[in-house]
Amino acid sequence: MTVCIEQPLPDSHVVENKNHCHTEELVLDGGFVVPNNVASGGFDAPEINAFGHTFRDYDVESERQKQVEEFYRMNHIHQSYDFVKKMREEYKKLDKLEMSIWECCELLNEVVDESDPDLDEPQIEHLLQTAEAIRKDYPNEDWLHLTALIHDLGKVLLLPRFGELPQWAVVGDTHPLGCAFDESIVHHKYFKENPDINNPAYQTKNGIYEEGCGLENVMISWGHDDYMYLVAKENGSTLPQAGLFIIRYHSFYPLHRAGAYKHLMNEEDVENLKWLHIFNKYDLYSKSKVRVDVEKVKPYYQSLIKKYFPEKLRW
Ligand SMILES: [Fe+2]
Ligand SMILES: [Fe+2]
Repeated sequence: MTVCIEQPLPDSHVVENKNHCHTEELVLDGGFVVPNNVASGGFDAPEINAFGHTFRDYDVESERQKQVEEFYRMNHIHQSYDFVKKMREEYKKLDKLEMSIWECCELLNEVVDESDPDLDEPQIEHLLQTAEAIRKDYPNEDWLHLTALIHDLGKVLLLPRFGELPQWAVVGDTHPLGCAFDESIVHHKYFKENPDINNPAYQTKNGIYEEGCGLENVMISWGHDDYMYLVAKENGSTLPQAGLFIIRYHSFYPLHRAGAYKHLMNEEDVENLKWLHIFNKYDLYSKSKVRVDVEKVKPYYQSLIKKYFPEKLRW
């Protein structure tokens, strides 16, 4: 299959759940109930990152902005410290499915962005676009090619087999919990409805953390980043730390775009952040006029998967 993506555009990370079913509430395997006003209210608005103010079709821009704002309103209200803790516990069980990395790439094709006029191609094209663009400029960093291929696989959380989480719990920019919400976080004003606002321990710059404690000790809002990191780590991936860091924090725009929360990083984070900055350029601008022949590049990526992952992974 050969694909052609039309023009450079920021990565909107928009994903739409085609199999959305309007149940009264979403109960995960662990018995954790996602609030029914959001699980069933069916807010399927697109998510967009901090770069997302540019659209090809400017006629629909204001409507899109409204949807994006509503997305972040839901995100900021419901992503609390306790919510993230429960999600981590639930998904760390990895009891949903067994499959290989490539099988997951194909599964992600069920997750299609129906609202982005530039991205009516399956997700796998975005993954391969990003990976091939990086491979061209960094031919020797094979771990970075593979990192690019798998960085968005966590979006399977939108699918029924993975709990069919609402958009605000899967995509969008991420931010820390347990300390003050930085002003740089998009649509910051909606945090006033977040329950964490009532906990005095979370209202200072460091909150419950110590300066320089390292991001791995910081609770970050739940989404496809942290889930894929968990999957890679718990399945014993041998990807270098920088690769795991990219997967885990690629949506952490307050850090890597605005420079917020740097006081929580340790020395290793500082090193890894350099690679994340490199990666992000490709993640955002890989939708260029580049053709990717999936069948042609597949053997290369399968060899990388074999090098850094077990044959079958628990998800
Ligand atoms: Fe992503
Ligand atoms: Fe991406």
